[in-house]
Formats: sequence, C-alpha cells, structure tokens
Amino acid sequence: MYDMNCDIDHILVSEQQLKDKVAQLGAAISRDYTGHDLLLVSILKGAVVFMADLMRAVTIPCGIDFMVVSSYGSGTSTSGLVKIIKDLDQDLSGKDVLIVEDILDTGVTLSHLVPMLKMRNPSSVKICAILSKPSRRQADIEPDYKGFDVPDEFVVGYGLDYDEKYRNLPYVGVLKPEIYDKK
Ligand code: IMP
Ligand code: MG
Repeated sequence: MYDMNCDIDHILVSEQQLKDKVAQLGAAISRDYTGHDLLLVSILKGAVVFMADLMRAVTIPCGIDFMVVSSYGSGTSTSGLVKIIKDLDQDLSGKDVLIVEDILDTGVTLSHLVPMLKMRNPSSVKICAILSKPSRRQADIEPDYKGFDVPDEFVVGYGLDYDEKYRNLPYVGVLKPEIYDKK
C-alpha cells in the first residue's frame, strides 16, 4: 500500500493546529456576522476541505456557495490570468459574502474576484484564508480572517494540491524535492 505521507519533506501546519484555528475562526465569524445574511463562498477545489471544516465551526445560520476560478495550471508558478469557470448559483444582493480560500499567495486571483463580486450589490465582501504567503504578495489585498502565515515554499495538503494530488492530506506540508523532479 502506498502512503503519500512518505512524499512529504516536512510539516508546516499540523492537523491539530488547523483544528484549533478553524474553531477560533468559526467563533470570530459567528460573533461578527450575528444578525447578518452570511453567505460563505468557497473557491473550488483548493478551499473545499477548509470550507467543510469552517462551515461546521460557524454557529449562526448561513448559506454556502461555490465558484471555480482559473488560476494555476498543473505547474507551480502563476499564470496571472483569472477567469470564472463556474459561477455562483445565487444572487448576492443584500448578502454579506465571506470568500473562503485555501491560500492567499500573490493575491492576484482575489484582487480580480472581489471587485467582480462587489458589482453584484452584496452588503459586504470579505476574505477568510486559512493560509497566507505574505512574502509573495503582488496585489494590495489581505485576508480579513487568516489562519497561518507560511514561508515562500510550495505547500500541499488540507485542500492544496500539487498536480491535482495531495489535497487529501490532513495537514499542510512541503513535498520532497524529488517529487517535482519526477514530472
Ligand atoms: P494567488 O497567487 O493568491 O492568486 O493564488 C491562487 C491560488 O493558487 C490559490 O488559491 C491556490 O489554489 C493556488 N496556490 C498558491 N500557492 C499555492 C501553494 O503553495 N500550493 C498549492 N496551491 C497554491
Ligand atoms: Mg484556490
């Protein structure tokens, strides 16, 4: 039986750290959005694991929706192009939208997406990202709710992939260099 844990060089954020942080974020969001029409918007596929955990840590009634936005190809460098592949199913007018993201890296994706969503007359649009790479930022954008800062390394797990794999690792880690050499 193959164990993909063997492909990991080191762990950056453990399963327990993620669990504790998601609980804190859920509590903060529940407090801040009490009395508001909260809609959690997850960007597929990377944010799906975080979304599933975060929505269960939110204790106020809220809606959920999903988008697919193009960002990276199968490699590890940004294409710089942002396109809506799958749009939201619902109207945003009057809603307090919270974008649930896996990682704010260059910030290029969300710096394009946020103004597009704001044109649909929501009450507010904010960002919740479980990871952030501040040293990589190109766009003037920061998460309103943030889990962990990570160094400028390509990370996998907790929804994040390398070549569509490793999303199912329960922690965030860095792959061994030889995994990239195989491609
Ligand atoms: P941006 O550079 O902030 O636009 O990031 C866009 C997307 O790239 C993120 O939502 C992730 O899906 C992906 N991404 C950025 N950095 C990493 C990484 O270290 N590992 C895996 N995916 C990443
Ligand atoms: Mg993503």
